[in-house]
Amino acid sequence: MFVPLHDGSTALIRPIAPEDAAALRRFHWTLSEDTIRNRFMSAKPNLTSGDTRYLCRVDGVDHVAVVAVDPQRPEAILGVARWVRYPDAPHRAEAAFVVTDRMQGTGVGSALAIALADLALERGITELTGSMLADNLGSENLFRRMAGGDVAVKRMGITNDVTAVLPQRPGRLAAMAARRRMRPGVRTETHRRRHAWRHAVAA
Ligand SMILES: CC(C)(COP(=O)(O)OP(=O)(O)OC[C@H]1O[C@@H](n2cnc3c(N)ncnc32)[C@H](O)[C@@H]1OP(=O)(O)O)[C@@H](O)C(=O)NCCC(=O)NCCS
Repeated sequence: MFVPLHDGSTALIRPIAPEDAAALRRFHWTLSEDTIRNRFMSAKPNLTSGDTRYLCRVDGVDHVAVVAVDPQRPEAILGVARWVRYPDAPHRAEAAFVVTDRMQGTGVGSALAIALADLALERGITELTGSMLADNLGSENLFRRMAGGDVAVKRMGITNDVTAVLPQRPGRLAAMAARRRMRPGVRTETHRRRHAWRHAVAA
């Protein structure tokens, strides 16, 4: 599905495929250390072939993943999101996201989040959870987006466990694609806020 972004460009949101392994490795090289640390909670300069096999060969039932790509350069991944169902709680799954630094703040993460929520509802999942560093407001906001409002946040030392209860509203990505209008300037403002936030954390 094609989704308009805040900077005036468009992203194609589609399921990940085994053929995406090389593109995913290249995408990983575009990520800053901060972004990798927020996604994996550790340093990870490269994806191994075992990583890409796990990340790209999903079963579409208990492990679902979507990518955002640039329609002009479909080999260029802009962001990836996934959920993995908990075996002992099949109505719940753990979700994770990552967007290339250059495109953060343009709405790619929100589009991926809504796509994940749609796919979760279709597969009987009603709650998506995520574990993130406590200062990761961007990620917490994505869970709010999936919930369509408040989320439960449980502090676990330097990390937060966040739970979004999904509203029973299927087809939200299609509605977003049809409804959203370009918001010029949002990207610049969000980037400014993001850098201000990073400086505050570093201080
Ligand atoms: C978290 C992440 C996926 C969000 O993707 P994104 O494309 O920047 O998200 P969006 O542009 O759709 O923004 C989503 C919301 O979060 C806000 N936001 C984004 N980055 C933010 C930040 N650093 N601080 C505060 N708010 C932020 C946006 O303003 C937006 O809020 P709004 O809808 O109220 O305007 C991206 O920042 C990222 O890859 N971070 C590093 C990896 C990571 O943290 N993964 C999550 C681990 S589960």
